[in-house]
Amino acid sequence: MKPAKKLYVKTYGCQMNVYDSGKMVDLLAPLGYATVDTPGDADMVILNTCHIREKAEEKVFSDLGRIKDAKKDGAIIAVAGCVAQAEGDAIIQRAPFVDIVLGPQTYHRLPEMVARAERARQEKLGKRFRLVDTDFPVEAKFDFLPEATGPQGASAYVSIQEGCDRFCTFCVVPYTRGAEYSRPAKAIIEEAKNLADKGVKEIYLLGQNVNAYHGEGLSGQSEWRLAKLIEQLAQDLPQIERIRYITSHPKDMTQDLIDAHRDIPALMPYLHLPVQSGSNKTLDQMNRQHTREFYFNIIDKLRAARSDLALSSDFIVGFPGETEQDFQDTMDLVAQVRYAQAYSFKYSIRPGTPAGAYEDQIPESVKEERLARLQALIVQLQFEFNQSKVGQTVSALFERTGKKPGQLIGKTPFLQSVYVEANQEVMGTIQSVHVTDGFANSLAGVIV
Ligand code: SAH
Ligand code: SF4
Ligand code: F3S
Repeated sequence: MKPAKKLYVKTYGCQMNVYDSGKMVDLLAPLGYATVDTPGDADMVILNTCHIREKAEEKVFSDLGRIKDAKKDGAIIAVAGCVAQAEGDAIIQRAPFVDIVLGPQTYHRLPEMVARAERARQEKLGKRFRLVDTDFPVEAKFDFLPEATGPQGASAYVSIQEGCDRFCTFCVVPYTRGAEYSRPAKAIIEEAKNLADKGVKEIYLLGQNVNAYHGEGLSGQSEWRLAKLIEQLAQDLPQIERIRYITSHPKDMTQDLIDAHRDIPALMPYLHLPVQSGSNKTLDQMNRQHTREFYFNIIDKLRAARSDLALSSDFIVGFPGETEQDFQDTMDLVAQVRYAQAYSFKYSIRPGTPAGAYEDQIPESVKEERLARLQALIVQLQFEFNQSKVGQTVSALFERTGKKPGQLIGKTPFLQSVYVEANQEVMGTIQSVHVTDGFANSLAGVIV
């Protein structure tokens, strides 16, 4: 057998990129590539990049510099993902040792590009071979993606929707991922079944705006919404004990989906529903297309449908024009919703987005100070939420080992990490855990 060629993949950004990286690995397996953990001795390096904030982008270029120094002679370097889409040729100008630049909608063509790059290496072309492919091709890339072949963990991602038509004024995603596209239900159910057959117990349905899902239904039925898709998955695949979806937009939180949280036991009682700001003025300037009252109303309906639902959100502080009062409105919203978890970011100017050109940008020091206050509140609420589970028995899906010997880490339905002492046999299984302690970021418990 030919020795395997070594492939190093580094993934930045969101779950969609994690999913895409997995698909790229599956696509390159037939060419003889197997993954390794370090770039130093790799025959090929892929950086699957994120463009969402300036820091994410800068990280890619600093990592590229490091890889240039560490890489093996002749290794093929590819930059994929959202920075690739946004920057295209400019990446090669900044980092001339990069061979391949490919956007998120073209990675099904990666094997062909790699084969061409390998040939160019063999023929020792005087000029270095370079390929840039950042089209949004008409053909749906999903039709060209292989089934997952390698071993799967207990939890897996399935991309069901990609792209976004909402154009929030701060966000690059509509430009890097393109227009919204929903995969047909049939393809999604087949992919989920393949994962279930490999022992997967939990799936995350992924989309940039996942609750806007409107794919073709089974046997030529008209478009299905997300609630119907989840219902079908739960019915066809009882082995999948846990279903989650991410990321949702409040405007697409329709009643059928809210009802699904009441009616479908496999649908986990945890929802990431980003609101970004608690100020109506800021929400308007962000083009979020709803008010804080609208958001509160959705939360009330969700909690009426499923009283133990845990909520999480994303927040941006220091959006252009944000006053102390606007920020206080955000703090107030957070305190009212009592999130189980939340992510918060300083506003970052992104090239080509409307808000980047807004006047009254907020000074960095103000952003930092507001972020610190918001995060202190979030940490407090997170701690209180974790504390509220102490003394209860919850289910946990075990996926990782802890740092201490004999320690395993499970995930509760509410996406909390719970530490227990147990032997390896429980890995990949769902167990009942009695929660004995709650901390800021995790729980401790014993399997019952
Ligand atoms: N589709 C998701 C968000 C995807 S981006 C949604 O609609 O909520 C993930 C998060 O990054 C966003 O929720 C937002 O909080 C943050 N983000 C996006 N653009 C940003 C920017 N320019 N500066 C700071 N944070 C940003
Ligand atoms: Fe970005 Fe807004 Fe689309 Fe989310 S809904 S991906 S924040 S444009
Ligand atoms: Fe980043 Fe692209 Fe995801 S910009 S957050 S990797 S969609």
